[in-house]
Amino acid sequence: MKLKFFLLTITSFLGIMPIMYSQTAKPKILVAYFSYSGNTKILAKQIHKNTGGDIFEIQPVNAYPQKYDIVVSQAKKEINSEFKPALKNKINNIEKYDIIFIGSPCWWSTIAPPVSTFLTDYDFSGKTIIPFMTHEGSRMGHSEKDIKKLCPKATVLKGLPIRGGQVNQANKDVVKWLKEIEIIQ
Ligand SMILES: Cc1cc2nc3c(=O)[nH]c(=O)nc-3n(C[C@H](O)[C@H](O)[C@H](O)COP(=O)(O)O)c2cc1C
Repeated sequence: MKLKFFLLTITSFLGIMPIMYSQTAKPKILVAYFSYSGNTKILAKQIHKNTGGDIFEIQPVNAYPQKYDIVVSQAKKEINSEFKPALKNKINNIEKYDIIFIGSPCWWSTIAPPVSTFLTDYDFSGKTIIPFMTHEGSRMGHSEKDIKKLCPKATVLKGLPIRGGQVNQANKDVVKWLKEIEIIQ
């Protein structure tokens, strides 16, 4: 009887092992983004729809002014001085994520300051960071290089730039890129 119970336990454990393995092997994904006027938010949602995982909006404590020329000059000053604005919200357990998609509008050819804050607030050592950006001509600018500088111990993959005006039609490009970087099949 004891032997029968032992054999039953072993076989059922061997049966669930592949399931346990596939569950632990599946990377945990976070899609984090900042968006000033909504384009990057749309792109973030498209990426999240295709990857699953969690989604998180990076929000500065002090929202940027609504007037375009004012935000453009404020952003220039902040980027030149490497200012990192305080963030409104925190993410719990960043350690649990393996892959972090990080989205930003292109501001002065780089990531917006709240995204710089996010990348310095947490430890991304050993994690994979995948940037995406909406822009009006500069594509990724020098953002990938800047992200590597902020997170030297992370692996930073090739980013996806999408023109702000074309973000609603970007799903095909999103899927193609996610396949290229082997996030989906
Ligand atoms: C402060 C500021 C700076 C910008 N700088 C650039 C730039 O250097 N290159 C570019 O192609 N677009 C630039 N843009 C345009 C935005 O990147 C573009 O409109 C983007 O899609 C906005 O994304 P959002 O709606 O998520 O904020 C800038 C916009 C703002 C407000």
